Amino acid sequence: MLLESKCVIVTGAGGGIGEAIARVCSREGALVVVVDIREAEAARVAASLGPNALAVAADVRRDGDLERAAEAAVQRFGRIDGLVNNAGVDFSKPFLETTPSDWDRVINTNLRSCFFLSQIVIRRMLAQTPSGGSVVNISSVHSIAGVPGAAPYDVSKAGMAGLARALAVEFAARGIRVNSVSPGLIDTQIWRDLQAAAPDLEACLAYWRSNIPIERVIDPREIGELTAFLLSDRASCITGANLIADGGMTARLLSTAQV
Ligand SMILES: NC(=O)c1ccc[n+]([C@@H]2O[C@H](COP(=O)([O-])OP(=O)(O)OC[C@H]3O[C@@H](n4cnc5c(N)ncnc54)[C@H](O)[C@@H]3O)[C@@H](O)[C@H]2O)c1
Repeated sequence: MLLESKCVIVTGAGGGIGEAIARVCSREGALVVVVDIREAEAARVAASLGPNALAVAADVRRDGDLERAAEAAVQRFGRIDGLVNNAGVDFSKPFLETTPSDWDRVINTNLRSCFFLSQIVIRRMLAQTPSGGSVVNISSVHSIAGVPGAAPYDVSKAGMAGLARALAVEFAARGIRVNSVSPGLIDTQIWRDLQAAAPDLEACLAYWRSNIPIERVIDPREIGELTAFLLSDRASCITGANLIADGGMTARLLSTAQV
């Protein structure tokens, strides 16, 4: 198993990609701390993983909640070996209409929480015996390419990838690896909402197939597998990377849609 007896904190693990990451980590032997603002969903996921999982209801925008989540992990499992900064909110609004409170909501949830939870956890990783650990930021293809009407989201995701690089070089010599994963279109609520909003479902599916070279959306479990690998010692020489998991979406210059 990749993560036998390693304690891993996953934020936003009450659903979607975070839940899938928690499930793969648990399958690989990890002691998983399921952090989510939705208390019932965190409890549901942790209960389904059994005694080697702990639910913590926390809002990652609140510094006190971040401290409490890390403290709960240490109280229950004795140390922290891995952190997955996954909790996040999507955003879509024209730049000229974006308000300071829109900016605060997206940046505080996606990027500020990632910065300060990493700080809290890395302090503990350095102080424990043996010291060290692995941090993975769940960024997005928006870290390397933009779409109109997503400026705060793009900034937050580029920031998460940049933070991974900055921390990777600052802590490499002290046994802490930090990477980001940049998913493309994943089969979570976002994808279900896109389909529900489409006036023509067939055209919607064809559009996305034409934009994703593997011609399908990605299963959240696939992001879980990559994240578990990065958390594990198998990825011992990988730090500061931004691993793109998008089925080729950002590798292709143009879509194959007919004009
Ligand atoms: N779904 C995609 O296609 C996709 C693609 C690229 C990147 N991502 C990123 O992956 C991450 C997970 O996305 P998802 O699609 O699973 O989303 P989701 O909405 O299905 O799940 C997000 C989880 O985070 C939790 N959460 C939200 N705000 C929180 C807060 N303030 N404190 C604690 N928990 C909070 C939610 O309750 C939820 O359980 C996000 O950071 C997202 O930006 C998603």
